[in-house]
Amino acid sequence: METLRMVTVVAPVNIAVIKYWGKRDENLILPLNGSISGTLSTNQMCAKTTVSFSRNFTRNRIWLNGVEETFENRRLINCLNEVRRRAKEQGKISPEELEYNVHICSVNNFPTAAGLASSAAGYACLVASLSKLYQLDGDISSIARQGSGSACRSIYGGFVEWIAGDKNDGTDSCAVQVVDSNHWNEMRVLILVVSENKKKTGSTAGMQTSVATSELLKTRVSQVVPKRLADIKQAIYNKDFKTFADITMQDSNQFHAVCLDTYPPLVYMSEVSHAISDLIHQINEEAGKTIVAYTFDAGPNACLYLLEEHVPLVLAAVNHVFPTTQNADTYFTGIPVTLDSQL
Ligand code: PMV
Repeated sequence: METLRMVTVVAPVNIAVIKYWGKRDENLILPLNGSISGTLSTNQMCAKTTVSFSRNFTRNRIWLNGVEETFENRRLINCLNEVRRRAKEQGKISPEELEYNVHICSVNNFPTAAGLASSAAGYACLVASLSKLYQLDGDISSIARQGSGSACRSIYGGFVEWIAGDKNDGTDSCAVQVVDSNHWNEMRVLILVVSENKKKTGSTAGMQTSVATSELLKTRVSQVVPKRLADIKQAIYNKDFKTFADITMQDSNQFHAVCLDTYPPLVYMSEVSHAISDLIHQINEEAGKTIVAYTFDAGPNACLYLLEEHVPLVLAAVNHVFPTTQNADTYFTGIPVTLDSQL
């Protein structure tokens, strides 16, 4: 009888254009609002995870970027339990194998926890690899969601919506593809790494404080996001870059306004981030039309959405204004990334 089974999966990061910020259920990770992101191609920024189970493993173990961590992380355990629960239901794995311990080994090829969606790629990869190991059928985005909310969107390629859902058990809170990566295949993303440092306040703690203290977050959730979700989806279907870019930048700005409206405030963007935002508006003004959009997650790094034809111009402007040698802590790498569907 087989005693060791092993699977390796690669999963990309996703960059939200309508941001998820705030939970209505902390344990199941149910969001207050829906969100939309682009999934990057797996040949650039991604996580790679190998999982295995064996009758010979004496305990569950996990290594992240080469360092062994304890297996006590509640979200990790929730994901593994949910995969095993579904595997038991679907019956492709023997009851004996379901009892075996697992070994998990995951590496990221980009800065961890610097607001670069590392947990999204990491949990999407973990859940995709475990689901393959346990031969699960059906949508697995609602399992990935229980690792890190935004991870559910990395399960699919192209542009992806995380439907907030309204059930208390979370069964309707999952990711769906809006369009695949071929639909708008001229789309590119440039990541400008402002700092590789770990962010001050992680997204979990940050969201909790925002939900508890920000009035603006309430208005955002009830009155702003629903229309933006509908409008940006239409812009994506129509390949209407100007509308897509306007909504993307406005939503990033409102997310950071919510962060500042949080008490004590959450300051994720740095002076350099603001300088990048100024530069993007200036580039668009000088071009006479909108050719590039910025968006910032819970960290200072900038993600730029633009069409392939404008990559040389925008990269030249960025490199001119922010020469890489300017400051030891401030440097940029422009990585043109195609939106892709790999999982
Ligand atoms: O999934 P988390 O807990 O890492 O939260 C991600 C939150 C943002 O990146 C700021 C926005 C988003 O929708 O990805």
